[in-house]
Amino acid sequence: MIFFGPTNAGKLRMKVSLLSDDDRTWVKERTELLFGGEFVVSGNEVHDPHKLPGFIVTLGRERLGVATYHVVGEECELVSIDSLSQFCGVGSMLLEKVEETALSLGCTRMMTIVPNDNLDAHRFFQRRGFVLKRVRIGGMTKIRLLKPNVPREGYYGIPVRDEFDFEKTLEAKSE
Ligand SMILES: CC(C)(COP(=O)(O)OP(=O)(O)OC[C@H]1O[C@@H](n2cnc3c(N)ncnc32)[C@H](O)[C@@H]1OP(=O)(O)O)[C@@H](O)C(=O)NCCC(=O)NCCS
Repeated sequence: MIFFGPTNAGKLRMKVSLLSDDDRTWVKERTELLFGGEFVVSGNEVHDPHKLPGFIVTLGRERLGVATYHVVGEECELVSIDSLSQFCGVGSMLLEKVEETALSLGCTRMMTIVPNDNLDAHRFFQRRGFVLKRVRIGGMTKIRLLKPNVPREGYYGIPVRDEFDFEKTLEAKSE
């Protein structure tokens, strides 16, 4: 985790760009660290974030975060979002970019799945217009059949058990 202080000095120099092929090995490593495997299970689908389209935030040569997405029809799934420098605006930059892209591709909604322990992400998404749509109680048991390395204890020492689906209706921003 990288911190560059509460000032906006770093934020001003942060850059968001398209995920390039040079970033993909790093994305794979980050996915392994964050999700306990190099793939992400979403409902009945399995995604490899390092093979998906996405965006990366950098500060100079330092990579500060990545987000990947998958579009089916009018729905854009935010498959992964990973900020290495929390509470500095990285996540917001990434989410805004994915939303903008989804809109330009004709999507009308976005969805993402968050485990029960990830309270920072619950806050992050709800503060940005996402609404809880569904909870799969005990959903992590099925995930562990495919990914035995998913930890049993998560953020703040909370047992990792359930999956929360968040959804947001996308609307073009008026100028
Ligand atoms: C969820 C997650 C992506 C959020 O990313 P983030 O970089 O912390 O997001 P931001 O910094 O843009 O926003 C978080 C808060 O910090 C605040 N913030 C932004 N810049 C700030 C600054 N310079 N100083 C102080 N606070 C700041 C934002 O206002 C926001 O607060 P709010 O939600 O009350 O509006 C991040 O916690 C994360 O990567 N978690 C681990 C991976 C994960 O959980 N992924 C989601 C499941 S796939």
